[in-house]
Amino acid sequence: MSSPQAGGRVLPVTFAPLLIAWQRHSGRSGLPWQHTRDPYRVWLSEVMLQQTQVSTVLSYYPRFLLRFPTVGALAEGSADEVMALWSGLGYYSRARNLHRCAQVVMSEHGGVFPATAEQLETLPGIGASTAAAIAAFCHGERVSILDGNVRRVLSRLLAFEGDLAQAQPQRELWHLAQSLLPDAPSGDDMTAYTQGLMDLGATVCLRSKPLCARCPVQAVCQAHASDQVQRFPVKSRRLQRRFESWWLLLICRTTSDGSRQFWLERRPDRGIWAGLYAPPVFSDEEALRTALVAGVQEGLVPLEPVAHSLTHRELRLHPLRLDLTATQDANGLPAGQWVSATALGDWGLPAPVRQMLAALS
Ligand code: ADE
Repeated sequence: MSSPQAGGRVLPVTFAPLLIAWQRHSGRSGLPWQHTRDPYRVWLSEVMLQQTQVSTVLSYYPRFLLRFPTVGALAEGSADEVMALWSGLGYYSRARNLHRCAQVVMSEHGGVFPATAEQLETLPGIGASTAAAIAAFCHGERVSILDGNVRRVLSRLLAFEGDLAQAQPQRELWHLAQSLLPDAPSGDDMTAYTQGLMDLGATVCLRSKPLCARCPVQAVCQAHASDQVQRFPVKSRRLQRRFESWWLLLICRTTSDGSRQFWLERRPDRGIWAGLYAPPVFSDEEALRTALVAGVQEGLVPLEPVAHSLTHRELRLHPLRLDLTATQDANGLPAGQWVSATALGDWGLPAPVRQMLAALS
C-alpha cells in the first residue's frame, strides 16, 4: 500500500510497520547498548559505532564504561587516558570530541544530556544522525537517523535519483526519511524502528550483494521492483585518497634491569594521529637520518614497510629501528619520552604503531 506524499513522490506507508515488526522478530537484540535509555551509554555506543564495526566496538565499549561509568567521570578523566582507551578504534577526533562533549554536558547542562535531537546536535561531535539516534532511543522522539547505511536503504527503497555527493539531494532524502517515520509511535516503536533501519542496512541491504530475498520491505522497494538495486545510492564523487609516505624512527633500548623501552612523542593536537603517542615521524629518509647525531646512523635497521588507510590518505609507513645502549639517551631528537614495553597498553598509540612496537618488545 502506498500514498502520495512529499513533493508528489509516492511513499510506501507500510514501510514503518513492516520494519518495526521485522526488527522485533529478527533484528539484533543482544547488543550491550540496547535495552538502556541512559543517554550516556547510548551516546558512547553511537559515537564508537560511527565509523567502526559492531564486532570491534563490542570489546572497547565495556572497557570504556568500566573506567568511565558516568559522563562526570569521563569529563574528569585526562585526555591521555581517554586516547589510550580509544587506541586502535581509529578516527581519533571522535575521542577528543567525546571528552569535550562530556565536559560541556557537565559545565553547561548540569551533567544531564539535553533531551531533544535539536539540542543534542549543538554538542561537540554529535551530528544530526547521532543526535537523532540518541533522542529516538532514549526519549522516543519521532526523528529519523540518516547515516551512510540508512542512506543506502532509503535511496533503494525510494529509487532516489538525487546525487548524494551533493548537499541539496542529501537534504531532500532527510525530508523523505522524516516522512517515512511511523505514525504516532510509542517510545518502544521508535526504538524498534531506529534499530530496524540500522539492522536492515548492516545485515540485509548490503552495499554489494544485498540479500533482497530476506528483506522485510522487498515488496515495497522501488529499486527492487525495477531490478536496479545496485544502481543506488547514486553518488557522483567517490572518495579520493592521497598517497603519502612517512618514515618512523623506532628508537629502542634495554635498560640495566633488562626492560625494553621505546622513545615516543606526543603528536600535535591537529592532523593525523592528533594527541596520540608515536615514534618521531619524518617526511623522508634523509630528514630522519639528518635528525640523528653523527655515528648513530650506522645502527639504523630498515623494517618492512606497512600500508595504513585513513579516510583521506593512503599512508605507507617506513619504520627504521635504532637500538641505543642502556646509557645512551635520545639526545638531539624531537621532544619525547621513554615508555616501557610493558606499559604500552596504558598509552594512546595508533594501531599500526602498536603492532610495530609489539614485534620489537
Ligand atoms: N550502528 C550505529 N548505531 C548502532 C546501534 N545502535 N546498533 C548497531 N549498530 C549501530
